[in-house]
Amino acid sequence: MTMDSFKALLIEQHDGKVSSGFVQMDERQLDPGEVTIRVAYSSINYKDALAATGAGKIIRRFPCVGGIDLSGTVIESTDSRFKPGDPVIATSFDIGVAHHGGYAEIARVPGDWVVPLPENLTLFDAMALGTAGFTAALGIVRMEENGLRPGNGPVIVTGATGGVGSLAVDMLAKSGYHVVALTGKESEADYLRGLGAAEVMLRQSLDLTKIRPLDRGRWAGAVDNLGGDILAWIASTMEQGGTIASIGLAASMSLNTTVAPFILRGVSLLGVDSGYIREPYRRGVWQRLASDLRPPHLAAMSRSIKMDELPATFNEYIAGRAKGRVVVDIAGG
Ligand SMILES: NC(=O)c1ccc[n+]([C@@H]2O[C@H](COP(=O)([O-])OP(=O)(O)OC[C@H]3O[C@@H](n4cnc5c(N)ncnc54)[C@H](OP(=O)(O)O)[C@@H]3O)[C@@H](O)[C@H]2O)c1
Repeated sequence: MTMDSFKALLIEQHDGKVSSGFVQMDERQLDPGEVTIRVAYSSINYKDALAATGAGKIIRRFPCVGGIDLSGTVIESTDSRFKPGDPVIATSFDIGVAHHGGYAEIARVPGDWVVPLPENLTLFDAMALGTAGFTAALGIVRMEENGLRPGNGPVIVTGATGGVGSLAVDMLAKSGYHVVALTGKESEADYLRGLGAAEVMLRQSLDLTKIRPLDRGRWAGAVDNLGGDILAWIASTMEQGGTIASIGLAASMSLNTTVAPFILRGVSLLGVDSGYIREPYRRGVWQRLASDLRPPHLAAMSRSIKMDELPATFNEYIAGRAKGRVVVDIAGG
């Protein structure tokens, strides 16, 4: 692989139909940016699967190399903050949606999108975390800024076996919270307890046809990856002063609830968007991921795949069968 010829997973649109496939690219096709990076690893997030399969309208510019996350080593930089040989992480902003992303052996991005690899993390760890880890940590940081503490009461995590979910369960349990993992996968209860969940609830056990404006308050905090009726049910079952981090829409984009939890129980619904968090906050969240929030079971919940395995693995995400984190070994082929 040279800058003249490197492998990439390119997402294209023809006659309104989205498809993705492997191509050889060269330096002239890279997008503008101050930092050129030899990519070591990328990862798969739900958004990557939606983008590459066309199951969701994610790509804002065609053609686009997929992969919203990447870690690697700087080859060239005109940004004084980075020099050749530096290990770095690049996630969020337009990466993999409107700017060529991490499913390529070489990437070029603006310096403002690059974060130095924190000490105590390897390039592999950084992608085992990826956008999923950054977002789970961001949700926890925001909830704690809003007053959440382990002594306040249980915290529920939905979509618990997924990337954001697994990482949130692990980080919250490590931080001393009583974590209740809500999952659709009965077979993964032991996996979730192994990450530190004190209780595992099955999504199928909930009756979402009768969500009351206010039900018995059970949660001091909530990390929601699903949206829709699950989020409405969570809102109605929050304790007084509870805090919800709304992160995902794996079940539904809609939200049909009442104002009762917000005005009668002082519940806060915090929107969490990992995409456009700027410095120094971005670097601060990564530092916490490398220190007090570092998930103790990161290696156990992560597996590595080769680039060629991407298309088949995307289907697991679309089918809701994703578990833990998938790291894509870009440098290894
Ligand atoms: N706001 C942000 O900045 C941000 C950043 C990253 C991710 N996200 C969003 O957060 C969500 C989770 O992302 P991820 O990368 O962790 O995804 P993921 O690894 O695919 O995990 C999603 C999990 O949600 C559950 N699930 C999937 N489809 C479902 C359905 N139709 N109905 C109910 N549950 C379903 C499954 O867990 P169980 O079987 O255990 O329930 C699945 O493992 C996605 O919606 C993603 O777009 C947002």
